[in-house]
This record gives sequence, C-alpha cells and structure tokens, in this order.
Amino acid sequence: MYDLKEEIKSRLAIEDVVGRYVELKRAGRTLKGRSPWGVDKTPSFMVSPEKGIWHDFSAGKGGDIFTFIMEVEGITFKEALEKLAHEAGVELKKYSTSGDNKKFAEKKLRTKKALELATKYYQACLIKNRPVCEYVFYKRNLNRETVGEFKIGYSPASGTALMDVLKKRGFTESDLDSAGLLNRFKKDLFKNRMMIPFIDTNGEVIGYTARILDKGEPKYLNTPETILFNKSRFIFGLYNAKEAIRRNGFVVIVEGNMDVISSHQAGVKEAVATSGTAMTTQHLKILSRLTSDIRLAYDGDEAGVRATERAVELAGGLGIDLTIISNYHGAKDPDELIQKDPALWKEAVNERVPAVDWLLNRYAESLNLSLAPDKKKYSDIALKLLSYVKDEIEHATYEEKIAKKLGVSVEVLREKGSRLDQELEAKSSKRFLKKPKTAATPDHIKKLEDNLLALKIFGNLTDEDVPLETPTDQTKLSELELIFNANYKSIKDLDVKKEAASLLPRYQKELVRAKIKSLQVKLETLDESNPEYEKTLEELNHLLKNN
Ligand code: UTP
Ligand code: MN
Repeated sequence: MYDLKEEIKSRLAIEDVVGRYVELKRAGRTLKGRSPWGVDKTPSFMVSPEKGIWHDFSAGKGGDIFTFIMEVEGITFKEALEKLAHEAGVELKKYSTSGDNKKFAEKKLRTKKALELATKYYQACLIKNRPVCEYVFYKRNLNRETVGEFKIGYSPASGTALMDVLKKRGFTESDLDSAGLLNRFKKDLFKNRMMIPFIDTNGEVIGYTARILDKGEPKYLNTPETILFNKSRFIFGLYNAKEAIRRNGFVVIVEGNMDVISSHQAGVKEAVATSGTAMTTQHLKILSRLTSDIRLAYDGDEAGVRATERAVELAGGLGIDLTIISNYHGAKDPDELIQKDPALWKEAVNERVPAVDWLLNRYAESLNLSLAPDKKKYSDIALKLLSYVKDEIEHATYEEKIAKKLGVSVEVLREKGSRLDQELEAKSSKRFLKKPKTAATPDHIKKLEDNLLALKIFGNLTDEDVPLETPTDQTKLSELELIFNANYKSIKDLDVKKEAASLLPRYQKELVRAKIKSLQVKLETLDESNPEYEKTLEELNHLLKNN
C-alpha cells in the first residue's frame, strides 16, 4: 500500500518544518537550537536531517515531523497529517483508506466550504449595512484591519437569507445542518447579529459566536457542537495569537471573545479565550505546549475566583506558571480598559501575581483574620488550594505564608492538613490509600525509558541489564541513537552498565507511582458494587504495601 506518511516525509525537509519554530544552527551532522517549550538554559534541541528526526533533551520529547507539529501546535495526529500534506502538496483525500472514512472526510470538507461561503456572505452583509457598521466600527471601536483579520460579519434579519444563498450555490439542508447554521425549524440560526467566526488553528472557520446588536437574550449565540466545532478543545483567537505567543513566550487568557479582539487591536496579540465555556484540561494542555507562562485575565467576581481555582487545580500537574492579571483600573473587563486606554492594558499584562497568591489574598480580604472562626475558614480553603500545588518548594513556601497569616506554626497547619486529608479519604471510604505527593509526569518516565533504551541498544547491553523491549520502529531507533550520542558517547563500556543500573530502579519506581496514580483515578470512577472495584482496590493496596 502507498504510504502517505512516507510520501510527505520525503517531500519535506525536517530542518525546514522545524526551522519555522526553532532557530537551528549546524553542529556537525546535526542541527542544534533552543527548546521551543522554553525549558532549557542552553540549546538542548537537536535535529538530524539525515534521519528525519528531532529530539528535545530538556523536555524529553522527540520524533519525526508529524510528532513535532502535533507537539508544537497542540493538535492531533490527523490534524498534523492534514497540515503537512497541504504543505507538501500531497492530496489527502485520495489516500483515505476506508469508504466510511472517505465519506466522513468529504462531509467535513463540504461543511467547511459551506462555512467559508457563509463567512464571506456575512462579511459582505456587514459592509452594506450602515447601522451595523456603526455598531462595529464606532460603538465597539474596531478598525478595518481587525474586522478583516477576525473575519467579522453580519447576519441579516430575514430568517432565510443565508440558506437561500448557500442553497443556490449547491449546498444541501444536511450540509447546512452539519455546519450548525440551522435552528430547529430548519431556518437560519443566526439572525440580525454581529457574526464572529470561530477560526481553527489552520485558519478555517468552524463556527460562530454571534452578538446581539441591542439589548436582549441571549447576548451571544454560539454554534452548537458539530463535526468541526468542539467547545472543550476550541480556543478562540489562537490562530491569530499563535505567532505572538511563541515569539514572546506567554499567553493571556481573557473571558470574552470581544476582549480577545480588542486586545489584539491594542497590540497585545497573545490574547485568547475559551469560548462560551469553562476552561478544560484540554484547553490548558494545548496552550501549555506553546508556553508555560499562562496569564489569566478573569473578572474579579465570585465566578472569576471559582474559575481561577479550577485553573490552579488543572494546572497542578502540567508544570504551568499560572499568574493573574487583575489591575483593570476600575474597568469591568479588558475590552473596557482598552477603550479607556490601550496602554493601560499593555501595562496590566505585565503586572501579574502568581495565581495561588492572588487567591490567598482574595480569601483573606473576605474574612476577618483576627477572629478564630474566620481563621478556621481561611485555613480550610487555603489548605484545599494547597493540595493542588505539586512542587515541593512552592508547597512549603505557601505553607509558611499561610501559617504566618494565621499566626500559627507551620506544624499546626500541617497537622490540620493531614487531618483534612484523612477525613477526606475516610469519607470516600478509601482510608487505606496514601496519596503520592508528587506524580511523575509521563514525560519524565519517557525520559528515563529513552535513556535506558539508548544505553541498551547503542551501549550493547543485554536484556538482563535492561529488561525493556527493544523498539523496531526506525524513527524511534534513530531518536535513541541521537540520545546516546548526545548523552553517553564518551562513556566507557564499563560505565554504560553502571549508568543503566542506576537508572533502572528510578525508572521502575516512577512506573509504579504512575500505576498507583492511575489505579486511584480508576477507583474514583468505579462504584463500590462493581466487581472491578474490589479487584482494583486489591491491586492498589498490594502496590502500596510493597512500595
Ligand atoms: P460577557 O457577558 O462578559 O460578555 O461574557 P463580553 O465578552 O464582555 O461581551 P460584550 O463586551 O458585552 O460584547 C463573556 C463570554 O461569555 C460567553 C461569551 O463567550 C462571552 O464572550 N457568553 C456570554 C455566551 O456564550 N453567551 C451569552 O449569552 C453571554
Ligand atoms: Mn465586554
């Protein structure tokens, strides 16, 4: 069978694909650069053009052009394949394997085409309509460039205007429906609204958020979930923000789509929003692949506090540096501040406070910490927050801070912390479980595993020395060779064995930890009456006892 992946690889040079994100300098047979994830202090990113592979020694990631694009863009394999196929000038459709797949791909393509045309139509309608132009250009203060960049338009009020246009161009009701353009009466969903497209990371429209022009409900009407639009993954503004995020190494998450648009116009092009939904792990994961410096610009209200707590919880295991932008000079959101003075927003973006400190201050503000009952309340919520902080040093620092705030010793605070832990565990009737304090991220495990495999294969060790299965995949083998040459090239034969012997127990320990963690997660989802529950619990207790 024809191999599409290989065809694309043969047409694209890895140094060109990677070179768009990382400045590469030649170093012998390989090229070197700085990690695009900004985790290195000295260049730790390597590319081997000969072998078509890359490896990031500080982030512990590596692979071929497809994995690189997936990692750096935060997209799926399929999306990376589409993107690179496009760049290589290879037609994807032809190689679709099964008939079903092909049908689905064709449906998606037609849906995209319908949205592309709809967007053009909406854009034309905006220019023709005086009062709407007034709203967009004067009331919202957007300029032509911004309106063009975000493809802003207007949906006429008639109720069938868009349908009529699209049907005339050969699109069926089913096409319109799968694009999310119809209401339950099979007429236009969007009527008399300012249309703001949802643009995916390839620059293609996959839906809309539509604002009412006067007062009324709902203020924003959004495209429902479709074959193209998935709100728990979609990040509004990312297409336009990507370059700035990568260049300047940070991202600003604002609450509203209009805040994103205003921010870009004001020159802060690192702004994005999770559109019409609360932040999910998927959102954070996608962003954390671009940068670890994530700044939240949420409202300071109760909902903003809850959203921030949630973000701290989600960010816990991802190695993210989460901070809060909160000085709006009295404005209610970034858009309002920008209307006042764009320079103030630019300043605000750089005056940030670590998310945990910000929350602790908010808790303290709402309480009277000279009263014992309020001290109790404060310690309750502060300890809960603290349980999300995984790094030992950060954790200890906050412990001290909280204890000081309460005027008690760190020991007393810890005592309460472990009592709360115990109560929580007892409540969920899993009191015999210990929580591991830090979980090794999968990347950490992979780093150890890669080093072990590199030692085994290229240091000529036996199965006995390193009881790990040798991979057969050529890309993987090349990557391991790169790792060996970088880390162990000058190591003596005798030391290869020693090195492996010291890595192995660390690796095995991390594996067990990860297993424990995954069993604990599984247990939470199981009902106690489920026979799996008993089995999982047994396995877990066995691991905990022996490790
Ligand atoms: P806001 O009510 O804060 O609106 O909702 P905004 O962004 O400031 O908008 P303007 O300035 O009044 O035009 C914040 C976000 O919540 C979602 C939208 O994504 C909006 O950007 N939202 C709000 C909805 O999805 N539907 C609504 O009816 C209201
Ligand atoms: Mn607003």
